[in-house]
Amino acid sequence: MREYEILTNDTEETMRLGEQLGQVAKTGDVFTLDGDLGAGKTHFSKGFGKGLGVKGNINSPTFTIIKEYEGRLPFYHIDAYRLDESGEEDLGLTEFVDGDGVTVIEWPSRLSVPLPENTVHITLQRLGEKERRLKIKTNALHYTSVLEVYE
Ligand SMILES: Nc1ncnc2c1ncn2[C@@H]1O[C@H](COP(=O)(O)OP(=O)(O)OP(=O)(O)O)[C@@H](O)[C@H]1O
Ligand SMILES: [Mg+2]
Repeated sequence: MREYEILTNDTEETMRLGEQLGQVAKTGDVFTLDGDLGAGKTHFSKGFGKGLGVKGNINSPTFTIIKEYEGRLPFYHIDAYRLDESGEEDLGLTEFVDGDGVTVIEWPSRLSVPLPENTVHITLQRLGEKERRLKIKTNALHYTSVLEVYE
């Protein structure tokens, strides 16, 4: 698996990276976003949805767990932060992960749903007030072609 490390210097840069990946996303793709509170997972997701062609604002689905948007493909934004540890409540989420849309999951560690082998794993780290490091693991050519430009 290739791992890319990208530094962003402000919120817009994180959103733009998300947007570029959203623009090339394909049906069935799944992303996981790991990182502390305030690392930038939701801002990445906002950009990603924009790149997928979602019109209007994308908000954190923390209280609803999942929000569904219509773009070039369906966009499923999952925030598993509030799922309880039993893993029972998240069974309904498999239909999204296995569906024809594109799924982005914040707090994937709270989820017990099996994820596809080609899931793109992203870890966001806060380096400073506005600096973030994104580590992105993927071998998918449609994404590596975007990420190689940053190297
Ligand atoms: N380079 C950056 N990239 C992303 N966000 C940044 C950056 N610099 C500053 N920020 C700020 O950091 C915060 C990130 O918030 P965001 O809701 O995206 O984080 P999160 O990882 O989704 O947190 P949570 O775990 O609470 O859902 C925002 O206040 C944003 O303005
Ligand atoms: Mg969030």
